Amino acid sequence: KNNAKVESLLQKMTLEEKVGQMAQITLDVIGAGNDRYTSTEPFSLDQQAMEKALIRYKLGSVLNTSNNRARTPQVWYEIISKIQQTAMKGTKNGIPVLYGIDAIHGETYTAGATMFPQQIGQAATFNRSLVRKGAEITAYETRASSIPWAFSPLLDLGADPRFPRQWESFGEDPYLVSQMGVQAVKGLEGENNDVANPYHVASSIKHFLGYQVPVSGKDRTPAFISDQALREYHLPSFRAAIQAGAKTIMINSGIINGVPVHANYNLLTKLLKEELGFKGLAVTDWGDIENLYKRDHVAKDNKDAVRIAINAGIDMSMVAYNYEPFCDDLIALVKEGKVKESRIDDAVRRILLVKYDLDLFNKPTTNPKDYPKFGSKEFELASYQAAAESITLLKNTDQTLPLNKSMKILVTGPNANSMRTLNGAWTYSWQGEKVEEFAAKYNTIVKALELKAGKQNVTYVPGVSYKMDGRYFEEYADQLDAAIAAAKEADVVVLCLGENSYTETPGNLSDLYLSDLQTELAQKLAATGKKIILVLNEGRPRIISKFEQKMSAVVQSYLPGNFGGDAIADVLLGTVNPSGKLPYTYPQFPNALFTYYHKPSESRSTTEGVYNYDADYNPQYVFGFGLSYTTFKYSPVKLSTATLKKGETLTVSADVTNTGKVAGKESVLLFTSDLVATLVSPDVKRLRGFEKIDLKAGETKTVTFKITADDLGFINPEGQKITEDGDFTIQIADQKINFTYNQ
Ligand code: IFM
Repeated sequence: KNNAKVESLLQKMTLEEKVGQMAQITLDVIGAGNDRYTSTEPFSLDQQAMEKALIRYKLGSVLNTSNNRARTPQVWYEIISKIQQTAMKGTKNGIPVLYGIDAIHGETYTAGATMFPQQIGQAATFNRSLVRKGAEITAYETRASSIPWAFSPLLDLGADPRFPRQWESFGEDPYLVSQMGVQAVKGLEGENNDVANPYHVASSIKHFLGYQVPVSGKDRTPAFISDQALREYHLPSFRAAIQAGAKTIMINSGIINGVPVHANYNLLTKLLKEELGFKGLAVTDWGDIENLYKRDHVAKDNKDAVRIAINAGIDMSMVAYNYEPFCDDLIALVKEGKVKESRIDDAVRRILLVKYDLDLFNKPTTNPKDYPKFGSKEFELASYQAAAESITLLKNTDQTLPLNKSMKILVTGPNANSMRTLNGAWTYSWQGEKVEEFAAKYNTIVKALELKAGKQNVTYVPGVSYKMDGRYFEEYADQLDAAIAAAKEADVVVLCLGENSYTETPGNLSDLYLSDLQTELAQKLAATGKKIILVLNEGRPRIISKFEQKMSAVVQSYLPGNFGGDAIADVLLGTVNPSGKLPYTYPQFPNALFTYYHKPSESRSTTEGVYNYDADYNPQYVFGFGLSYTTFKYSPVKLSTATLKKGETLTVSADVTNTGKVAGKESVLLFTSDLVATLVSPDVKRLRGFEKIDLKAGETKTVTFKITADDLGFINPEGQKITEDGDFTIQIADQKINFTYNQ
């Protein structure tokens, strides 16, 4: 039905109108001139600038990254209503604007919105339903602000801990990213992608393709990825999300094998639109068409860049500020025959379809009054639950944890008393600059421990603190000696280390070790002989091997969101039994950064006389690792058949028993290994199933998985998915069993 509406509208549109639809500006372009980083003034629209952009140039989309203004659903409603009225009343065809925002762990730019753990923490829950619920709430709260489009989820592979956006991903494993990505898309768009429903939004899966693995580990620097690796590791999550109906996609700002992805016809048209059959709209990342001539020098000027990108398959330019040259150049290119009008029609069809699907022509805005659950206790509880299930216990010598509530606790470290570090970036502001102000009512780790263990039992001395220097942060010693002195008086020390918030290029890093100052604090505290519980609050695994062995317990909290302080305190005090598992490999040394599936095979390492590759695989903690306050015992794995045939399904099951004294949740992970294959990488174990179960003390549950030939396949050097006959191993926890695949 909407396709027919799109066709009929397209027939009526002039070239200028069509090209206008393909441009997206940032809100500041039509704002009253306040600087988006420094202004504290409430946002106001500049009528003249708005009319020029929306009526004269007929622009199709606006995004928001405005930082420092009062934003509530009502404020958004008023701003977006004016924008929609201008666009719809001021133009012949009355096309509404598609308004987008980075709602990545909650509705990023609205006060009072529910902030969930960042994706990396959500992945650590290994709980699909928590990811789904978080995305549903994010959609509800985003739509409550009249915003129908979220630039989320991020489906890149978080395979390199040096990369400043690893925490925005669902981790290093393609299967985990795919599974969680599908849940996020369905949570945002609804089970059947019914985005006309005013509680849903259009998602934007990003950043297609191969974004997070540049050679340098730094954002927006060149990557070299073989076609085989692109398809084996980076494509599955996008393929799954496209099959789940994702409405839009954002393109990778980077350069792969010398070609900027925004200029790559093979990736954007051949692979994305033709092979994967993606019918939605492809939007650039920030200013990336300009980057083709300003940064990458694959185009000689703006016009050349526009020609290359649009012909490669870009439908909408997140042009940010300079929309005039984009529109003028694109119109001229069509008139000169350098961009076919059929390409423009294809792009505009995709854009209009999203607008019709969202029912924006009838309901360009939504009324905040229809969203009574915005920021409600019910939503906050969902955020707390996700945080609680994400916390990952990595070490617990002599059952140091849980703590006894009557103990005298010293809480120290730069991450102990900060809502900003708990949330990370894309929280009320781009780099997280506004978190302390907007999240003041929530509990930091110190505050939560004071509330739950009693103020009289908790002493707080920072030891080290963060200070902002422009957009970047620095650390300084803040009563470091006092922290050591206080440790001597305490029964136990809760040492909160990690990182301050960052994303994109401001988060680029040259040293993966945790900072010298934090290391010094840890070493000096350890020298007191007290038990130290290291609480990590970080976006990527910063290397801790210089002092990890001196810590009695280690707890990874990732970036747990507004309820992270409560969740951490509840884990430390034993009210919550930790159940998170690492969604990445935690490295021990900066020159040994491996994902678990790059581990050379065990069979090779045991062959006599052959170099023991295994010795190089020395992470601090392996992928999927996470302890509990209880213990789980796994039965031998059962298979429905010893020989799997093409088209058949292998049923795999195992009994899991809680053999400890307290209830606990356990994520059961299933790995497969191809014992002999024509390509080396499939030889290594890979995740092919996970289920999270809840077990009372003494309880047993059976977990069942289905495996098909497709799960055992791999991409060959020719880019085809194949499954080779032969022997395979299935591993669940410490239990292994072999079977044969024979077509
Ligand atoms: O959505 C983001 C993207 O992930 C990084 N660059 C800016 C975009 C819009 O804010």
